[in-house]
Amino acid sequence: MRMPMIAGNWKMNTTVGEAIELVNEMRSRLDEIDNVDKVICPPFISLATVKELIKGSSIKLGAQNIYFEEKGAYTGEISPLMLTELCEFVIIGHSERRQYFNETDEIINKKGQSALKVGLKPILCIGERLEQNEAGLTAEVVTKQLRSALVGIDDLSKMIIAYEPIWAIGTGRAATGKQANNTIGFIRQTISQLYDKGIAQNVRILYGGSVTAANASDFVQQYEIDGALVGGASLKTNEFLSIVRLTSEIKGSLRG
Ligand code: 13P
Repeated sequence: MRMPMIAGNWKMNTTVGEAIELVNEMRSRLDEIDNVDKVICPPFISLATVKELIKGSSIKLGAQNIYFEEKGAYTGEISPLMLTELCEFVIIGHSERRQYFNETDEIINKKGQSALKVGLKPILCIGERLEQNEAGLTAEVVTKQLRSALVGIDDLSKMIIAYEPIWAIGTGRAATGKQANNTIGFIRQTISQLYDKGIAQNVRILYGGSVTAANASDFVQQYEIDGALVGGASLKTNEFLSIVRLTSEIKGSLRG
């Protein structure tokens, strides 16, 4: 069975002070919830502080980005190696990075490889734009993104995939559970072709895009969906806690 996961992508929100406040608010209640991996991804500048705050708890930490080189003259960048002291996960290929920072499939592939090389677990984001969705190109787009991101990567056991349709991100217009389940099932099939059936069955695939406490159960009750990558709602303590709790309960009852 795949361990469910809820990851909060805080994006470019929270000062260090606000991050401390948010973690203090949710820490003990989040820690209590079992049978789901709880990951928070604050901005780089708060990682060290948050790491201390969650010490001894079951909460896990992720970063939102990396550069693919290990070190050197890359002013302003953070390497995977640097992050190994701070966190376990790193988001790569987020559509906001593709869109605003011109990240290509090739760059994302390099980021994934360099993260895995030092033992960081990448949360690889893929997803189609609205017009691609409307033109029926979803499967084609996610296959292309997936294939390019996974070039040269043999071991998927440390990799998490997040299907985030761009039209659903920050819009309040989430996919339906069924839609997301279909696409994620398709992603699993593609992985099965690229690797094998066992690997495809074991890889965790999350849905992301306007997930809230009100719609989370739609997603997590689907067989193919292992949890969510949550943006806006991860900054609201009660909202985020509800999503995590629901996931634990629903996935727990599906397991029987
Ligand atoms: P929202 O939950 O705010 O739509 O963001 C989703 C997302 O991009 C998570 O990475």
